[in-house]
Amino acid sequence: MKAETIFSQIRYEESRDDAPPGFPSLPEVPGGRYTDPAFFALEVERVFRPAWHLAGHVADLPEPRSYFIFDKLLGKPILVVRDREGEVRAFYNTCRHRGAPIVKDAAGRCNLLRCQYHSWAYDFDGRLLSVPDAHDFPGLDKADRGLIQLRCETFEGLIFVNEDPKAIPLVEWLGPLAEEWRTADLRALVPDYRWSRVIGCNWKCALDAFQEVYHIKTLHPTTVGAALDHHATAISLLPNGHSRMCVRYAHGDCETRPDGGWSDRSVYEQTSVAHTMWPALNVPWRIGSGKFMMFWPRGVDQCEVQIIGVGMPWGEGPLPAARQAGNDQFDSILMEDVENLEAIQASLESGAFTGMILGYQERRLYWSHEQIDRAIGIDRLEKDLRVEQLLSPLVESPA
Ligand SMILES: [Fe+2]
Repeated sequence: MKAETIFSQIRYEESRDDAPPGFPSLPEVPGGRYTDPAFFALEVERVFRPAWHLAGHVADLPEPRSYFIFDKLLGKPILVVRDREGEVRAFYNTCRHRGAPIVKDAAGRCNLLRCQYHSWAYDFDGRLLSVPDAHDFPGLDKADRGLIQLRCETFEGLIFVNEDPKAIPLVEWLGPLAEEWRTADLRALVPDYRWSRVIGCNWKCALDAFQEVYHIKTLHPTTVGAALDHHATAISLLPNGHSRMCVRYAHGDCETRPDGGWSDRSVYEQTSVAHTMWPALNVPWRIGSGKFMMFWPRGVDQCEVQIIGVGMPWGEGPLPAARQAGNDQFDSILMEDVENLEAIQASLESGAFTGMILGYQERRLYWSHEQIDRAIGIDRLEKDLRVEQLLSPLVESPA
């Protein structure tokens, strides 16, 4: 992400009266992608299971032998621990004896991971250490009955898990997002905001609302709609279905100073930057803070929106009033979007909806859809559920 490139794109976007030459007219996105249970089942198996997902923050594991349960990914109970050496690991919270959950509390710290049912005990690296009355299990080899581990990698304080043992390393998957999150000083930030709500809409319906600013003048006239100009938006499609959107603040000038000296950080100062990490993580940034918004599927017509906000450390005690006010303002804008969503889903299911038409300003949504089909396998999809693969030529080339 080069500041000058983004600022010049913003100036171009502000000045144009026509769709950019060469931008294809996007075919209708089939409505069944938001309503069809069979399509949803494919998304679960081939989009969500083999993807990297944000499970929490290292601050949630303050010491060796700390743990928490991460249960947002399709309801699976996943035990995230810091082992004795300080390394973060993830296991299914499923005892290798009778399959019961090992820990019951949502978070805590303990000496051993001792199953709350029959006391089979595991170390924090997953090894089965002890079995009560082990002589009654002739032939049991403890080495074969360790906890089942998932891929788990941390990045600048964030903990990600992946159910696919063959997944590419997280940083490779992040691609340009890795450097851009470093530029946003992610490593220095700590959790200062948590929010979650179950919403009666398809997960994409909720995510879509945060991948474009075409709606802000209509839905948020007095909040974001006043603070940002949706015409002054630089959008980049990034590899792996990811994307970035930079919208100039009303007070930002986005001018390159004659003396130069621009750094990528100035993009965060002058514009509202938001990233999508495909499939279902959206991150709006401000200088010194980011909101990691996750859109967890719970069914074809239900999702849970979960947000972990991070900001500068503030010491002990409650968040300072100005910071709290910023988070409260975020809440109220969020509700303007959230209150719209269940009615949209009902409308999508009305029988009148054949599919959606996306414009140039909404191309990030189309790009997400394309990646879903690539993940599912285009040939696995009936023609009337596919989207055409069109936007790859527009992917931003590496800086
Ligand atoms: Fe919105």
